[in-house]
Amino acid sequence: MKEGSKATPLNLCPYCTAAFDTFEELKTHVVSVHKTEPLPKPAGWIALTVNGQVHELKVEPEWTLYQVIHDRLGLMGVKMFCDRGACGSCTVIMDGRPILACMSLAIECDGKHIQTAEGIAEAKHPLVESYIKHHTMQCGYCTPGFITTAKALLDRNPDPTVEEVMEALGGNLCRCGTYPQHPKAVLEAAQTLREEGSK
Ligand code: FES
Ligand code: FES
Repeated sequence: MKEGSKATPLNLCPYCTAAFDTFEELKTHVVSVHKTEPLPKPAGWIALTVNGQVHELKVEPEWTLYQVIHDRLGLMGVKMFCDRGACGSCTVIMDGRPILACMSLAIECDGKHIQTAEGIAEAKHPLVESYIKHHTMQCGYCTPGFITTAKALLDRNPDPTVEEVMEALGGNLCRCGTYPQHPKAVLEAAQTLREEGSK
């Protein structure tokens, strides 16, 4: 830091709180003083691991995780019905838990691991096949949200009951009324996973 200079609070060292005029000076300080610590990111930048791929990008403070995943990263599997936390269509899995992307600020998701319906499909999860087999969709708009919620359920409970499936999916709304089909599809996917695991 220059003598007598006025440091901006945006360039504070996260390890010792020393202040610097520029981000470049801060990086130089971290490299020389805190050698083993990770380099800080400029203010407003976040790193997200989405479907196994790391993305570093600058976000505005008011941007939601939905805006980043759908609008910036172009992953169309995350859908927007209500934009107010009421329908579950924007559900993604963040660090193992289903969360609503429309209700999450992107700036607060720095460093998180996120899985979307695209990642679940790429991994050839049996939910995808069972959802097709059981005609679990009509217009299909709500389907990615159901599948991500169901995937999070099966990750933590590989042998759920019908009631547990219905409870887990209780926050996902479907305007086409496909509700009776979802427990069948989820239970079949769970059975497939158990059989694959026992081989
Ligand atoms: S769009 Fe997020 S809960 Fe409805
Ligand atoms: S299948 Fe159309 S909203 Fe669910």
